[in-house]
Amino acid sequence: MKDSLARRLEIAQTIVHEAARIAMTMRPQSGRPQGTLKHAQDWLTETDEKVENFISQQIQNAFPEDGFQGEEKGKTRTGTLRWVVDPIDGTSNYARGRERWCVSLGLMEGDKPLLGIVEAPCLNEIYTARLGHGAFMNGKPIKASTVTDPKIAMVELGWSHVSKIDAFQSNAKAILEMGAMIRTLGSGTMALVDVASGRSDGHLEMAINLWDVAAALVLLEEAGARVSPFLRDGGLDQMTPILAAAPGIADRLSQTLNITLL
Ligand code: IPD
Repeated sequence: MKDSLARRLEIAQTIVHEAARIAMTMRPQSGRPQGTLKHAQDWLTETDEKVENFISQQIQNAFPEDGFQGEEKGKTRTGTLRWVVDPIDGTSNYARGRERWCVSLGLMEGDKPLLGIVEAPCLNEIYTARLGHGAFMNGKPIKASTVTDPKIAMVELGWSHVSKIDAFQSNAKAILEMGAMIRTLGSGTMALVDVASGRSDGHLEMAINLWDVAAALVLLEEAGARVSPFLRDGGLDQMTPILAAAPGIADRLSQTLNITLL
């Protein structure tokens, strides 16, 4: 399995890279958002569908025995291993010409995340991780931050159309009262990857889908971050809260936000 995972990572990285090129060629300019609304403030662009179809086809060609699940088309194939793709994470940014979005592809075996590939082409950043073999950005190892003092911490708070305004406000207040500074930047995957690379110290979103986090979960584990039990809490099948945190601030964030961390 080890060798086949290394091979899967290599091939998947090439597929994600090509998918990111496709997304770049279709990238909307700034102006009003381009695409259609799935829900309030929840965008779908032509690129989401094209990139998901491309990755699905390429994975099927390379690994016909593997299962496949995408944000747009759901579970289209089953297998012992399951690829989970978010073709564009941060679609609301992508749809109006912003730079913070990525293509995200994870591989799972049951509820165990094995591989993660995230490419953010506008930022020239490619993140990869294989369980037990470290996490990397553009080939260099990454680690969660060493911050322990909340007064120098940065924490991101995710928002989507399902977010409850009261909970968002009370979580924001709790984070600010800890002394941390807050961000909310429109890509759950990138927010989690930032925790893995030490560019932020935490990310909370009260309801998020598997495809937004599948690739990032391996990156976080390999980078030494702590994460709430997203999969155990139902994340395989339904929107579930996620908290990821740098180890030195994890207990404090967990207590403040009343969310368990593994
Ligand atoms: C969304 C983004 C957003 C998060 C939402 C996700 P999408 O994914 O990650 O930051 O708050 O929960 O649905 O729609 O851009 O793939």
